[in-house]
Amino acid sequence: MSVLVLGIETSCDETAAAVVDDQGRVHSDVIESQIRLHAPYGGIVPELASRDHLRNARPVIESALSRAGVRSGELSGIAVTCRPGLSGALLVGVQIARGLAFATNLPIVGVDHLLGHLSSGFLVYPDLAPAAAPLYPFVALLVSGGHTALYRVDGPELAQVRELGATRDDAAGEAFDKVAKLLGLGYPGGPVIDRLAREGDATRIELSSPMRSRSSLEFSFSGLKTSVARYVERHGRPADDQRLRDLCAAFQGRVVETLVGKTFRAAEREAVSSVVLGGGVAANRELRERSLEAARARGITLCVPPPRACTDNAAMIAYAGLSRLARGETDAERIEVSPHTALPRVTQKGGGPR
Ligand code: KG4
Ligand code: ZN
Repeated sequence: MSVLVLGIETSCDETAAAVVDDQGRVHSDVIESQIRLHAPYGGIVPELASRDHLRNARPVIESALSRAGVRSGELSGIAVTCRPGLSGALLVGVQIARGLAFATNLPIVGVDHLLGHLSSGFLVYPDLAPAAAPLYPFVALLVSGGHTALYRVDGPELAQVRELGATRDDAAGEAFDKVAKLLGLGYPGGPVIDRLAREGDATRIELSSPMRSRSSLEFSFSGLKTSVARYVERHGRPADDQRLRDLCAAFQGRVVETLVGKTFRAAEREAVSSVVLGGGVAANRELRERSLEAARARGITLCVPPPRACTDNAAMIAYAGLSRLARGETDAERIEVSPHTALPRVTQKGGGPR
């Protein structure tokens, strides 16, 4: 019989639950987004997030089990995100998962959310043509609203993942969101800028280049955001639509150029044959296209999971917890919630030599 895991995710602004088997097949994948709840504030309000997770967790979990046609007694275990994220939001998911594990006598493991994102390339959706799964070792670019980092991944366990470089300030998604706010485009900013940039000409506006040092695998996006702010101070918010599209294209072009350049530099340095993109920003059209071109030119296999696997979801959490559960491990009472990842960091936010 296959191993079936229930994944639960509440680290940020999505309440999610999913049932996944040991082949990575996604039997159900339920996501209740809080985007509309936080949109009026231009960012996530932690207290509101916790309350909404509390409201949504039970129906989301019940729906994931019923859509998969699985009773809790047929599960092999539960995997729940316990770090990094908003502490209050994480606590809701962890306590509900622990209660469920206790009531059903199932093993439970805590999962690092970043390990979840790094596992998303292995998920197989019944309604989508199967994509090539990455081969270990691979280099992964994780780009979301909270994280931007490059990893070398040698296997499915935390100890097999090494950070190669991360952002020193804003995450790439955060930069998209802040620039969108500056331009009055609403929240989240990534999808709107992506859409506007499609009809813009990036060469018409010169913005500063983020993290100029070409050899470093670290990122910095706050200078680019300031550069957009200066442009707006000097010229005003573009009233003309084409100017706005050009500004979005110039900003997005700079972000994508840096992400793609450093990712493939890392792949060459680590001598890997697979590259994986993950996180919400991996939905970006230009990032996908330019990565594909770079991969083709180097004979590297590029794995870009479908958008629903890139953004926060519980299927990736279930899969990331699977190997430990399959070995009979359980964290039971020991799951600790933390705002920080368990992965050792090489990049310090802020200062230090580049
Ligand atoms: O992974 P995610 O759903 O949540 C976390 O941050 O963990 O990522 C959300 C981020 C937001 O900053 C959003 O603006 C960005 O991903 N994003 C995009 C696109 N779609 C979402 N950024 C650029 N282009 C997109 N198409
Ligand atoms: Zn995430």
